[in-house]
Amino acid sequence: MNCAQHSDISGAAILSAGPAASTGQAPFHAGLLSEFDREDIGERALGVDERSGYRSILITGGAGFIGSFMVRKMITLYPEYHIVVVDKLDYCGSLNNLRAVKEAPNFQFIRGDITSADFIRFVLHHLKIDAILHFAAQTHVDNSFGDSFEFTKNNVLGTHVLLEAAKEHGIKRFIHVSTDEVYGEVPHDKPACREETILAPSNPYSATKAAAECLARAYHESFGVPVIITRSNNVYGPYQYPEKACSKFICQLLRNQPCTIHGDGSNSRRYIYAADVANAIDIIFHRGTLGQVYNIGSQYEITNLQLAHKLIELFAESRGEDAKVAIQRDIVFVGDRQLNDRRYAVNYQKLLALGWQQTVAFSAGIRKTIEWYRQHGETWWDDITDALIAHPGKRIAPVPTGWWQ
Ligand SMILES: NC(=O)c1ccc[n+]([C@@H]2O[C@H](COP(=O)([O-])OP(=O)(O)OC[C@H]3O[C@@H](n4cnc5c(N)ncnc54)[C@H](O)[C@@H]3O)[C@@H](O)[C@H]2O)c1
Repeated sequence: MNCAQHSDISGAAILSAGPAASTGQAPFHAGLLSEFDREDIGERALGVDERSGYRSILITGGAGFIGSFMVRKMITLYPEYHIVVVDKLDYCGSLNNLRAVKEAPNFQFIRGDITSADFIRFVLHHLKIDAILHFAAQTHVDNSFGDSFEFTKNNVLGTHVLLEAAKEHGIKRFIHVSTDEVYGEVPHDKPACREETILAPSNPYSATKAAAECLARAYHESFGVPVIITRSNNVYGPYQYPEKACSKFICQLLRNQPCTIHGDGSNSRRYIYAADVANAIDIIFHRGTLGQVYNIGSQYEITNLQLAHKLIELFAESRGEDAKVAIQRDIVFVGDRQLNDRRYAVNYQKLLALGWQQTVAFSAGIRKTIEWYRQHGETWWDDITDALIAHPGKRIAPVPTGWWQ
């Protein structure tokens, strides 16, 4: 078994039994995955006989939502790669997200923190990492209004540490996973943002993601670190810690609680299924041009209130209830966020030109997501009660009054 579950995340993490690609074990195959995962694995961006030349790939944040889609995909479709996951297992990450592949011969998990320079250097050097897919981040906007220093530390410093180690070590490709939120709000009368649009983040989360991007770009320009940046719309699907609208509403409804709508619910988001994002990142990793940015987008746009209505209707349908009655009962309006961008929208022609296509319609992806949470939502993480309250934001402890006043 190549899955190390160490409690020590101080930096000098102990690695699990060395690279498994050399053990001569049979490659992992999709038949060992759950029914949920099998259809989400998709296809290789490289032809079956094509080889990229990479051997050992580090995926940061691979125990999180999107990162774990990427890990399952890479482990299954690319037996020639040794996949090393580094994740500190924060509240939103779970080893359960990786359970399906933990026996795969080309998989290795290390619990550790990307902000530790010594630890990251050690991993890159000893595991001969030649490419990095960087997902690890603090990702919940609500939390960033409270404990925003955590966002700077993990998202900015963490990325900086990785870039510096990548520079020293001579990494061949570095995919930096960012978000559409770095463009800031996009009013309805403005065109969807192209990759060259000037960044205008408006909340602490998106500001730290934009700052991390600036560092990534600077390391590319100054030192030739082979960076590619991706910026995606809102992602939904199984395995997401239920703090973001889609997964949270589903878990609230499964507990017979109302969906908590921030403000009047008129803010809209574009949604894309996680497997489509993993496909896009596979294509960008293998076919994208160094130094470029690629938007990952969807045309499926829906307000938060419409999303809640849609979910309530689906639940009512499965429970044989009257949807109108259920909507009256299962919606509660709560105070809005400190700031809630009305809308994001990206133009993703560049990605389409690389050969990517969206494959999962929202109507299909959302049914599958609901079914996954029905089966696993209450047992996958620790108690999720706190995540389901209206504004779960982690707050910085109030500054104690003291001698300096
Ligand atoms: N979820 C979305 O809708 C969305 C949309 C666009 C972009 N993104 C970006 O995609 C990436 C992945 O998002 P997600 O939704 O899967 O996030 P997530 O919150 O589900 O997972 C993040 C993972 O990173 C790990 N992590 C955080 N800080 C770390 C550190 N210092 N060291 C090691 N591990 C650390 C966490 O333990 C967790 O497993 C993020 O960079 C995010 O900004 C997400």
